Amino acid sequence: MHTIDHSKTSVGGISAARIADLRETEAEAFRKARPKSAAKADNGLPGFFGGVPMHWMNDWPTPFPILVDSARGAIITDIDGNRLDDFCLGDTGSMFGHSPPPVARGIRRQAGHGLTYMLPSEDAVAIGPLLQQRFGLPFWQIATTATDANRFALRVARTITGREKILVFNGCHHGSVDETMVRLVGGRPANRPGLAGEFRDLTRTTDVIEFNDVPALEAVLRNKDIACVITEPVLTNSCMVLPEPGFHDALRRLTRATGTLLLIDETHTISTGPGGYTRKHGLQPDLFVLGKPIAGGVPASVWGMSEDVASRYTHYISAKEPGYSGMGTTLSANPLQFAAMRATLEEVMTEENYDHMDHLARRLDAGLTAVIDRCRLPWHVARVGARVEFICAPGPLRNGGEAETAHAPELEAAIHVALVNRGVLIAPFHNMMLISPATSATQVNRLITAFGAVAARLAA
Ligand SMILES: Cc1ncc(COP(=O)(O)O)c(C=O)c1O
Repeated sequence: MHTIDHSKTSVGGISAARIADLRETEAEAFRKARPKSAAKADNGLPGFFGGVPMHWMNDWPTPFPILVDSARGAIITDIDGNRLDDFCLGDTGSMFGHSPPPVARGIRRQAGHGLTYMLPSEDAVAIGPLLQQRFGLPFWQIATTATDANRFALRVARTITGREKILVFNGCHHGSVDETMVRLVGGRPANRPGLAGEFRDLTRTTDVIEFNDVPALEAVLRNKDIACVITEPVLTNSCMVLPEPGFHDALRRLTRATGTLLLIDETHTISTGPGGYTRKHGLQPDLFVLGKPIAGGVPASVWGMSEDVASRYTHYISAKEPGYSGMGTTLSANPLQFAAMRATLEEVMTEENYDHMDHLARRLDAGLTAVIDRCRLPWHVARVGARVEFICAPGPLRNGGEAETAHAPELEAAIHVALVNRGVLIAPFHNMMLISPATSATQVNRLITAFGAVAARLAA
């Protein structure tokens, strides 16, 4: 029979001592399996500040970053020859697998014909209608990151409403968009803790309330001074928070009633289906953003506008003083993006591929839940389409505040490294596991088995 240590120093039902023990043993095993990588990476990559080309790479819980030799489909191989079933998939950038063949073909086709020239190509002619049909909005722009797409869409929202403020939900993440970096700290709006070099009081122009809180939404929108609510359909940045029944209806009704625009950011929730959560659940955003996987891993994003937003913005442009709008970046909408995006839309983000992803994600959800039940852990599993998450706390979670409390960084880090040592890579930060079209049932079974072994060890 399994008993769980509920002493004061326990997290997620596991004692701190047991977590520390797992962390130590697994770190040692990780190093042992990677002599070549350790020689090149353990003391940092030469020439890079902090020893990595991008500081997030130091946030993985492994003793040093995995040095990748190659990634194909849903498998990553490191330079020591360790093969990992990849369920992180570049934190959604490779949601459809590494180098999907149609995307690789598209990139090869374009590679000899110019990589950027600030002009459209024939692929661009095809992409506009593809975006219209798939996501239901009539007008589109291409940017390079989801951060930029959000920034530009928010600018349009402010422009046409003439309102300065935006509203975010506590715990949100929309990339490094400055004005979304606001949190509830002790129940009060404040700059997100840890922001570097931010001297402005962001709460002056950004309101923040909890997700799923309709009365708070009603109260804050009543003043009619919010240009736009920006949200994911499901909060995915912290531990996953699903919308409660009726929340999205209330959000749309209240935003409409107060002349507030609604920006839906589908960058993670595109895991739901070919048209995202928006199409599956009939959301009606005024502005829509999708980044990361939209070009199969080539940096690109899209943002769309409703008929009404577009016509108001057109009116504004026709009357505005000449000068730079503050939107657009030089490498955005380049022909490499067009080629990769067209291939992704036409041949990768298909109903058939999503059926496969959804089927295996259900299997993973059930398998992990069974492990948690068997080990009698106070944890739960949340899922939005092909995106599955285990959370080391009881659920479901209602909002960002609860999600933050549910996080168990030390415990999660120990589990992540233990999974890597058993051949499975999941996303750091939020225990996310993505199923791609290339992921196999065997890989899902291996993940369930590995998770079972680690959970049993923790709960023993
Ligand atoms: C919902 C959401 N929107 C936007 C972004 C920003 O994407 P990027 O970092 O590519 O700009 C992220 C990144 O994780 C995200 O999760």
